[in-house]
Amino acid sequence: MANKSKFQAIRGTRDLLPPDTALWNRVEHTAHEVFTTYGFGEIRPPIMETLGLFARSIGEESDIVGKEMFVLSEREPSVVMHPARFGPPPNSEGERRAEVERVFNEPEMRERVEQQIQESILALRPEATASVCRAYIEHNMQQLPQPVKLYYMGPMFRRERPQKGRYRQFYQIGAEILGGPDAPAIDAELIEMLMTFFDKCGLEGTELSINSIGHAADNCRRGYVAKLREELMKVKDKLGADSQRRIETNPLRVLDSKLEHEQAIIAALPRIADHLCDECKAHYAAVKHELEQRGVIYRENWRLVRGLDYYMRTTFEITARGLGSQNAVCGGGRYDGLVELLGGPPTKGIGFAIGQDRLILSLQESGKAPATQGRDVYIAWMGQYAYATAIRAAKTLRRAGFSVELPPTELKFGKALERASKLSSRFALILGDNEVQSGEWTVKNLATSEQQKLTEQALLDYLKSL
Ligand code: HAM
Repeated sequence: MANKSKFQAIRGTRDLLPPDTALWNRVEHTAHEVFTTYGFGEIRPPIMETLGLFARSIGEESDIVGKEMFVLSEREPSVVMHPARFGPPPNSEGERRAEVERVFNEPEMRERVEQQIQESILALRPEATASVCRAYIEHNMQQLPQPVKLYYMGPMFRRERPQKGRYRQFYQIGAEILGGPDAPAIDAELIEMLMTFFDKCGLEGTELSINSIGHAADNCRRGYVAKLREELMKVKDKLGADSQRRIETNPLRVLDSKLEHEQAIIAALPRIADHLCDECKAHYAAVKHELEQRGVIYRENWRLVRGLDYYMRTTFEITARGLGSQNAVCGGGRYDGLVELLGGPPTKGIGFAIGQDRLILSLQESGKAPATQGRDVYIAWMGQYAYATAIRAAKTLRRAGFSVELPPTELKFGKALERASKLSSRFALILGDNEVQSGEWTVKNLATSEQQKLTEQALLDYLKSL
């Protein structure tokens, strides 16, 4: 017997449905509009890349690469299979294993195998910055006028524990500036664009936090991280398991901890602002000044280190109202070394990504969402003669940009008006033999129940004038 169990969207994914999708579209439209006024062009990278691209850019030790990647498929890396790497055919399984072990323990071999494995495994993108940098290199965009300003929108995938505002398939709207100088004005203008976008969307209670995490040098972040590790070692026993592990792998991430009992310990740790090199310090001061010149209100947060390895200098995050614990609606920062790390020329870079799901949630919580997706006009027709006119009227009104519902079968006027109300229509156009013969159509305002007689042209003019 056929299995009749129902299918459901898989954990952490969901269907976006009308009328919500109208708000999604409005937000996307606003992004296209605002970003274009700042000179950005849209890029649409694929949603799959090699695992290696993400491992190298986001960082092997990051939660995203370490725990949250959706890995797709694996082709056998050819180097593993290459017979020339192995000696004469092994006599036994034990000998074969020993031989494989020997070959894998050659460091150069191990590195090549690891690289091949990462390049042959595909992954769903957990973010798009790495893809944009790959595309910049692949399409020689360094030959275009610099900097190159790109934006994107689309689904991202992370195997996180789903909760309100956190999904396994979620959507980002992001922008990246690649090439050109690392002038603080670039950082500030990007943030200004972001705040303008949120403002145009009607997002409420936004708070912008900024920080500088310096650059990877002994007299800057590396020196600070060493100092931080030293201090963390002294309080290791008081920290949770995650933070204890991070002392070794990435001490900066300890600052991200939300654990209640770690807060007082973290507050007493050394702060990066006191360990920045002179250039990074000056860059940070200039970014703040540039933000002030643009009237962008910010808050400094020395613990804002972000969870991806590629950041340096400016980092920022925006929170919004109505989101509970997952209240970061956007994150971003500077990543000057990333293009080079991915095999391209030395290139400056900065960008952000907005969590579109969270942006929408916040707009809905503050009552900015349309409750229903109504129709402008519902055409109540009766009789084949009227039907021909109704078809034509529907076409004309739709061409003029109005949303029109034309019932596919004849309905009594009473029934038709009932349906029109259920679909939240603003007007009912009533077409019967009388109307068609006289050319004077009955138009009923469904909110006020007022009726008037209008010719086709007068109806169009009337609707346009509203
Ligand atoms: P991110 O902080 O990992 O940065 O993500 C940016 C935003 O995406 C977050 O602030 C959040 O709103 C949203 N987000 C992340 N994970 C989820 C999830 N599981 N469910 C719902 N929303 C989520 C990046 O992705 C960087 N690529 C940003 C960037 C661009 N930096 C430079 N350029």
